[in-house]
Amino acid sequence: MNIAALCRCAIVLAVLCTLSACGRSVPSASESGAAPHGVKKKTYQDLVVGFAQIGAESEWRTANTRSIQETARRLGVELKFSDGQQKQENQIKAIRSFIVQRVDVIGVSPVVETGWDTVFTEVKQAGIPLIVLDRNASVPDNLFSAFIGSDFVQEGQRACMEMATLLNGHGNIVELDGTVGSAPMIDRRAGFQECLRAHPGMHVIAQQSGDFIRARGKEVMETFLKSYGRQINALFAQNDDMALGAIEAIEEHGLKPGTDIKIVSVDAVRGAFEAMIAGKLNVTVECNPLLGPQFFETALKLANGEPVEKWVKSKEGIYRQDTAAQELPKRKY
Ligand code: AHR
Repeated sequence: MNIAALCRCAIVLAVLCTLSACGRSVPSASESGAAPHGVKKKTYQDLVVGFAQIGAESEWRTANTRSIQETARRLGVELKFSDGQQKQENQIKAIRSFIVQRVDVIGVSPVVETGWDTVFTEVKQAGIPLIVLDRNASVPDNLFSAFIGSDFVQEGQRACMEMATLLNGHGNIVELDGTVGSAPMIDRRAGFQECLRAHPGMHVIAQQSGDFIRARGKEVMETFLKSYGRQINALFAQNDDMALGAIEAIEEHGLKPGTDIKIVSVDAVRGAFEAMIAGKLNVTVECNPLLGPQFFETALKLANGEPVEKWVKSKEGIYRQDTAAQELPKRKY
């Protein structure tokens, strides 16, 4: 064989070897954690993200939406935002429309925990990374790429420990729950209950959903007061909005919120700090809604096939009356 023929042979072999990766399997971009060779890495300005929000039920949710929309604007991400108005069917419709529009990444904050398997499978089959934000969904781990949010069980435990201090371990508690079937409602209750087992002198004498809404919190508290009146020593409200509604009901009933009825709630929104300064709320356990920066950072990594943490956990504090005035000016929501 002459040199030219040898060279031709070597070139053919090299091409065949490249095509077949010489018998080795070539990892996909997402497996290798890198953009495929020769493919330009996406920047924020290239990114199109669809986000299916729950609605606008609370001060917390408003801050969460603002964080997502403002971060998208600041980074130059094209955001397709949908407000589910508290309905799972609306969120599912929005996710399906993001699939049709071939967005780069989809985000969703599931209003309730169950019923997501089918649509999450559709997202997976479309090859679009899915980020679950704030509220978890009860689905197998392989149906979403990352979860960004709080440890709701820990929030419930923290609320109960604060309550134990306020009540000296003894008293009757009423509980205002969030949206039935939602992850924060289920997990905060579980955390609270678990800690209660270590405090046999504290009893939950009534519990009902106020849907995370201020007006509903007031209504439900009125019914608690009608049934139990002065027997109630404390209120655990699963969010600040419901606690603020309950405070109005307690005052209208002729009792002093924060004194006659101790109150612990969750979120740490500005309204809760104002109520603590006025002596009407005792403690708020923080649940951070400012998830926009982590959301888009994770979305960009996923769009580029880079690895991400499965649970990006929020760091949160506990705020009490004694520091409320000094903390309020620093609050961002
Ligand atoms: O999912 C987070 C919860 O949803 C917040 O605690 C509540 O205020 C909101 O509506």
